Amino acid sequence: MSERGPSGRAESAASRLVALERPPWSPWAHEYARTPDRFIWGTQASPLAREAADRLRGRAHVLDLGCGEGRDSVFFAEQGHDVVGVELSLDGLKKATRLAGDHRVRVPWVCAAMPDLPVRGPFDLVYSCGSIHYVARRDRERLFRRLRELTAPGGYHAHIVFTERRIYREKDEIVHYFARRELREAYRDWIILRHAEGLIPCAQDGVRHLHSVETILVRQRS
Ligand SMILES: C[S@@+](CC[C@H](N)C(=O)[O-])C[C@H]1O[C@@H](n2cnc3c(N)ncnc32)[C@H](O)[C@@H]1O
Repeated sequence: MSERGPSGRAESAASRLVALERPPWSPWAHEYARTPDRFIWGTQASPLAREAADRLRGRAHVLDLGCGEGRDSVFFAEQGHDVVGVELSLDGLKKATRLAGDHRVRVPWVCAAMPDLPVRGPFDLVYSCGSIHYVARRDRERLFRRLRELTAPGGYHAHIVFTERRIYREKDEIVHYFARRELREAYRDWIILRHAEGLIPCAQDGVRHLHSVETILVRQRS
């Protein structure tokens, strides 16, 4: 399939997807390309994905933002939900596709960079694990507005984000740390089901370190 690009030249779908990997930049895209045979975040669902899944009833629509190599998207799909995984790294999505195949589930993957979200809602759960703090601060309001637009009445949001309480910079990544309680404030008119601050261990750069995080699970008032 090909399409006319802004230059008027025919542009393949693949070249458009690759172009998306330039701005904004993520070191994780390079890590995924460097480790095609290893899942750097593992293949098991994160605790927040399990907690959020416990809230869902029936066959829910789930949006996984910055889904990386797909571990949580595949988990939600295995629970019988319809999941869309959004990720800016094509190499991450190649691994995610493989993981979904291994688990015999189908997940539509969308290669896009937030805050642009070329997906169609509404979603019963909008979920992110360690990804929305990569969206530039100036785009944060736009992102949250879009996430609300994409949410079904009474739908859930669940996020875990890095906060500025403890900063550890790895792999030259650019993180737009959340201020303390900023995430909670963003959902002040929602029902807060759980909000917690904590520290999570990490060693992706070979050195054991901690990141300060905030976790939130909220439900839109219907
Ligand atoms: C720390 S990783 C977490 C991956 C996955 N959520 C997990 O828990 O296994 C953060 C992910 O967000 C992706 N990411 C960063 N900025 C993004 C953006 N603007 N739009 C979409 N994905 C983004 C990165 O490429 C990376 O895969």
